[in-house]
Amino acid sequence: MSENLIISGNSKEERYRSLMPQLVALTDGETDFIANLSNIIGALRQTFGFFWVGVYLVKKNQLVLGPFQGPIACTRINFGKGVCGTSWEKKQVMLIPDVDQFPGHISCSSDSKSEIVVPVVNENGEVILVIDVDSNKLNDFDEADQRYLEEIAALISLLYKKRDA
Ligand code: SME
Repeated sequence: MSENLIISGNSKEERYRSLMPQLVALTDGETDFIANLSNIIGALRQTFGFFWVGVYLVKKNQLVLGPFQGPIACTRINFGKGVCGTSWEKKQVMLIPDVDQFPGHISCSSDSKSEIVVPVVNENGEVILVIDVDSNKLNDFDEADQRYLEEIAALISLLYKKRDA
């Protein structure tokens, strides 16, 4: 496994395309789920410099903060609450161009202006975690982010299936 990321391309799409096979290589052969999540989040931050990127894991009836990079964040989110809890409830991607326009948005940082949340499901279709990416700019995410983050969600789902810890 290489421990260096080599990201080529100037456009966001090119950078995601360059990152994807390296995420597969980075997690191949490792069965510790949290270690793999940590490296995926670190690689996303390193590639795109996101303001905040991390996961919230479904634990009992709440989402609980998992590996992330960025400013400290709220640790627990209830089902159906905020953007993350809504993504969990609806099992759908939430693309929020202006968080102030989303009723019930949970503000971990007043600098957060736009957000995308992508649910990850297990083989039974149950949400096991959500990927949350925040920007300090308005309208910073689009369908390209959605498409590639959904690919990363599918990779995480596979890693969950083969985890031994
Ligand atoms: N804004 C999220 C909470 C998590 S933080 O942004 C890291 C939400 O409304 O669910």
